[in-house]
This record gives sequence, structure tokens and C-alpha cells, in this order.
Amino acid sequence: MTTTGTHSRTDLETWALERAVELGAYGPVAGGNPRVGCVLLGPRGELLGEGYHRGAGTPHAEVAALAAVPASRRHLLAGGTAVVTLEPCHHHGRTPPCSRALHEAGVRRVVHAVADPDPAAAGGARWLRSVGVEVSTAAEAGLAPETRSRAADLSRTWCTAVRRGRPWLVAKTATTLDGRVAAVDGTSRWITGPEARSHAHRFRAAVDAIVVGTGTALADDPALTARGPAGPLPHQPRRVVVGERDVPASARVRQGPGEWCHLRTRDLGGAVTELYRLGARHVLLEGGPTVLAAALRAGLVDELHAYVAPVVLGAGAGAVADLGVRTLEDAARWRTVDVRRLGDDMFLAAEMRRPVTEGEA
Ligand SMILES: NC(=O)c1ccc[n+]([C@@H]2O[C@H](COP(=O)([O-])OP(=O)(O)OC[C@H]3O[C@@H](n4cnc5c(N)ncnc54)[C@H](OP(=O)(O)O)[C@@H]3O)[C@@H](O)[C@H]2O)c1
Repeated sequence: MTTTGTHSRTDLETWALERAVELGAYGPVAGGNPRVGCVLLGPRGELLGEGYHRGAGTPHAEVAALAAVPASRRHLLAGGTAVVTLEPCHHHGRTPPCSRALHEAGVRRVVHAVADPDPAAAGGARWLRSVGVEVSTAAEAGLAPETRSRAADLSRTWCTAVRRGRPWLVAKTATTLDGRVAAVDGTSRWITGPEARSHAHRFRAAVDAIVVGTGTALADDPALTARGPAGPLPHQPRRVVVGERDVPASARVRQGPGEWCHLRTRDLGGAVTELYRLGARHVLLEGGPTVLAAALRAGLVDELHAYVAPVVLGAGAGAVADLGVRTLEDAARWRTVDVRRLGDDMFLAAEMRRPVTEGEA
């Protein structure tokens, strides 16, 4: 395949990668697996099939795309190209290796945007080359940089978690305009309005675990479930309390759908590593101020979600306990990645950006 009509191979593969990213985004963030999309092109650049990964235990994107090719067009796979957002896996997990599935279908060329950082699954590109399939990263294939960057973004939090063996950690605060999370008497319900709370609940349903300190568990007795207007949302994250004090037998966090656990420690690095071991790749830290400060001090927080309400208290606990910062120059500067209005409140997401290298993207 060199050109089809007026389109070059690079244009077609860029289009295919763009589409693969769009498809991959339908996949769930929670569940321990990456979001991946795949588009299969015939020898003349014709679209043969497309698919994405719908979550742990379901077919990978490549297998879903192969299954979507109509029987009458299967022969076109011989000499065709697979464009995938993540390197095809090469291991027998809950599903067979995608590398073999592509080879057996006759695919001649594979273009992937991101190398698989999981040592157990990696090696797909190398194996495909060893059996004579032409393999290129999206960068080597010269695909458009903006598309490559969107493809890297699709699995970035998962890849970061897997590379370092620790979940992607999002810390959430709900504060007044003057940065307070509770009034002097400890009341904090509700600072933000229904739209902000509903947004926060939808995000809870997109993570693998929610963590609070024993202070919050004892003061607020939160349920930590993901709820919508019609009740619990389909995915329930693991509910986690961290700290040395007991969690009362009557605590709401012990009840409800899904699993919960008490990590009886103040070692937050150890706690999140334990959550990784339990399968969590995306974790939400919902405070309070003591645990949030400890996590920030330990450099464990990757992303901040701040919900800010137009309420002024003038006194009461701040969102984050003392970090030891004494001059502005010493304060970490985060990068704003999202801002939106939610009813009367404001939502801001900021990231502690860690570089993605071209070998990864
Ligand atoms: N508006 C909001 O967004 C929001 C969110 C959460 C909480 N809050 C408010 O925050 C208040 C509770 O604040 P808080 O600071 O006590 O809650 P917290 O941060 O949830 O819990 C603090 C406790 O966690 C334990 N802990 C675990 N790891 C720790 C570490 N590395 N360093 C220090 N302590 C560690 C300690 O208890 P042990 O002695 O058990 O180890 C500590 O006393 C409540 O009023 C609540 O309403 C507001």
C-alpha cells in the first residue's frame, strides 16, 4: 500500500490512528486495563474493521477489530495493516496474544502509537517482526504529531501507573472560595451544589479505588460509593480507609456494593502500592487535609481535582494541611488541564505533568 487515490499511506494511517483513539476512548478507565483502539486497513487502504477494548476479561481491541471484519472481506486482511493505539500484547492473560491473532489473520503491517510498558504483555512488536510482519511505531511511520499525542494520552495514566508500579493518583477537594473544606464546627456538607457532586460521583465510577484518611471516615462517615440519580452507578470503586485508628463496625464505608478495605498504616506510598497490587491503576484520594498534605509531600499525587463553591467561611480547615512551604517560590506549580462551570460551582483539574518519551509514544 503506497497511495490510494490522492491519499498517501501516512494520511491513511494517521486517519486510522485518529479513529482508533476515538474508539479507544469508549473503553473504561477503571478496571485495571488500558483503553485501546484498533483499525484494520486493507491493502489499498480500505477500512476492513475496527474495535476497542471494553475492559478486563473482554477481547482486546485487535481481536475485536478482527471479529468485526465481514467474512466476505477477510481475504483482504492478507496484506493489510493494523493501526493500534498500544503495542499488541504478546501474552496469554485472560485472552490469547493479539500478536498471534494479527499474524494468523495475515496482517502484513502493524503501526502502534505506544509501546506496552507491562513486562508481562510486552514483546508483541518484536515477535511480529520475527515472523516477518512489518512493524512501525506511529513516530517511525511519520504519523501526524497531534494524533500521536492524542494516542499517547489515551493510555497515559495507565502506562504511567504500570511503568512505576503505582496507581495514577487524583486528589480531590471541594472547597469554599477561600479554600476551606469544613466550617469551624467540622460541618462540610454540602459545600458544593448538586451538579458538582454529580460530576464527582461520575468520576468515582471511573476509578478503581477511593481513599480517605481515618479522620474523614470518623468525622463524616462517608459511604464512598458512586451514585447517580437512580442509585448506585454500575461500576463501584474499592472503598479504602487509611490510618491507624479503627473504623467502627457501623461505618457506612463497610456497607454498600463492591469491596472495601482498611489499610492500617500511615505509609501512603506503601498503601497505594498495595492498591496497585490489588489491581488498581487509577485511584481517587478524597482527603481530608492531613492525608492530602502527606500524599503531596510524598510526591504521590499526579492530578488535582478542585471543586470550588461561591461560599466564603473565613475560618475552618483548609483543603491541605501544612506542606512546609514558607515562600511562594517553593510552591509547586501545576498545569491546568480542564476548567468547567458546574451550576454555581467551578471545577478545575491540574496535573503534575511527567514527561512521556517518544519511545513510549
Ligand atoms: N470538603 C472536602 O473536600 C473534604 C474532604 C475530606 C475531608 N474533609 C473534612 O476534613 C476533616 C477531616 O480532616 P482530617 O485531616 O482529620 O482527615 P484525613 O486526612 O482524612 O485523616 C487524617 C488521619 O489519617 C491518618 N493518616 C493516614 N496516613 C497519614 C499520614 N501519612 N500522615 C498523617 N496522618 C495519616 C491519621 O489518623 P490515624 O491516627 O488513624 O493514623 C490522621 O489523623 C473533616 O471535617 C472532613 O469533613 C473535607
